[in-house]
Amino acid sequence: MAHSDATLQDKRILLVIAGGIAAYKGLDLIRRLKERGATVRVVMTKGATEFITPLAAGALAGGTVYTELFDREAEQDVGHIRLAREADLIVVAPATADLMAKMAGGHADDLASAILLATRLPVLVAPAMNPAMWVHPATQRNIATLLADGIRLAGPERGEMAESGEAGTGRMSEPLAIVAAVEALLAAGKADSSDNVADAKPLLGKHVLVTAGPTHEPIDPVRYIANRSSGKQGFAIAAAAAAAGARVTLVAGPVGLADPDGVSVRRVETARDMLAAVEIALPADIAIFAAAVADWRPAHEAGSKLKKDGSGIVPPLHVTENPDILATIAHRRDGRPGLVVGFAAETDDVLENAEKKLGRKGADIIVANDVSPANNVMGGAANTVHLVTPEGIESWPQLPKDEVARRLVHWIAGRLKPTA
Ligand code: C5P
Repeated sequence: MAHSDATLQDKRILLVIAGGIAAYKGLDLIRRLKERGATVRVVMTKGATEFITPLAAGALAGGTVYTELFDREAEQDVGHIRLAREADLIVVAPATADLMAKMAGGHADDLASAILLATRLPVLVAPAMNPAMWVHPATQRNIATLLADGIRLAGPERGEMAESGEAGTGRMSEPLAIVAAVEALLAAGKADSSDNVADAKPLLGKHVLVTAGPTHEPIDPVRYIANRSSGKQGFAIAAAAAAAGARVTLVAGPVGLADPDGVSVRRVETARDMLAAVEIALPADIAIFAAAVADWRPAHEAGSKLKKDGSGIVPPLHVTENPDILATIAHRRDGRPGLVVGFAAETDDVLENAEKKLGRKGADIIVANDVSPANNVMGGAANTVHLVTPEGIESWPQLPKDEVARRLVHWIAGRLKPTA
C-alpha cells in the first residue's frame, strides 16, 4: 500500500469521524493517510455510525475503531486519555457543527469530545455542514473560539451540497486537500512545536517583503486616483512577520499608520514607485503583496492644477495600465522569492476569481477576501479570508485583522520548503 511519496512515514494520526453525509469521505481519508505511510487510529461518534460502519473504517485503518466513552474493554486497553496522547496529530473529518460546538464549549460527554478536551496534540478540523449552519452566527462564534484555542481548519469549501439544489460554503474539503493540510501542519510543527504558538519564531533568519495600502496616481499636482484601502491588514502582516522572527521590509502606499516595531518601512505614492521599491528590497524569502495597487493611472500628469474655466468643457481623463507588481515579481526567472503571496479583494465570485488569479499572476498562494461594502473590510478592523493554493481552499471565519495576520504568517511559515 506504500505510496511513492511517503510524506507521512511513521506519523500517527488519530482520525475522529463525526456524523454527517461526508463521513464516507473519512473512509477515503484513512486510505490516503495510510498510503503516505501514516498509522491511523479511528474514533467514530455515534452519529458517524449511522452513515458508515466501524467495520469498514477498521478494515481500512487496520485496527479497532473506538466509539464508546465507557467501554470496559477499551478503557482497560487504551482509554480516552491514551487515545488523546498517543498520536502526532488529531484530525476531525468530517467535523459537524454539533461536534465543533461541543469542542468550543469544552464538553466531554462522548468519546470523541472527551478525547478532544483531553488532548494537547495539534488538532486539524475539516468542517462539513449545510451552508445555512456554517454561516449561522453560533457556528462562526464557535469557529472563532476554536481558532483562538489554536485549532487549525481545513475548509469548508464552496460547492453543491448533498442536499439537492443547495449550494454555498459547507462542503468538506476533499481528502487530498486534508492530507496536504496534515502535511503542512506536521511540517510547521517542527518549527513551532511548543504548546504556545505565539512564542515560536518560525521565520527566524528569513527576509519577508510586504506591500500595503493603496497607491495614489496623480492627475495634477492636487488631484489623484486612489482607493479605500487603509493598509491595516498589510501593516498587521508586517508586524506579525517581525514578531515571528523575520527581517521585514514593508513597502507602503500613502496611509496614516505608524511604522510597526522592528520593521523597515519604505513609503511610496504611486504603483511605479512601489514596484521600484520592491525591486530594490529583493531578494526576499517570502513576498506578500497586500497592497491595493491602482490598476490604472492618468496617462498624463498635468504640470499645474487643471482649471474649471466656465466653458462647460470637461477635461478628458485618459488612463493607462499600471505595472502589476505581484505578477512581475512572481514571473521573475531570477531572484523570485521562495514563496509569493497575493491578495484578491473581490466583491463577486470571490473564490472563483481568486483561483483564476493564482494561475494568471503566478502566485503560490492567493488570500481572497470579500470586500463588498456590507462586510466593511476596507478600513474596518476585521477580515474574512480564504487561502487559495493549487492544493485547495482553506476558509477562515471572520477574525480581527491582527489575528488574520498572525495566523497567516504561521500558516505561510508552515509552507516554506526547508531549503527556501
Ligand atoms: O488584480 P488584482 O488587483 O485583484 O490583484 C490583487 C493582487 O495583485 C494583490 O496581491 C495586489 O497587491 C497585486 N497587484 C499588484 N500590482 C497591481 C495590481 C495588483 O501587485 N498593479
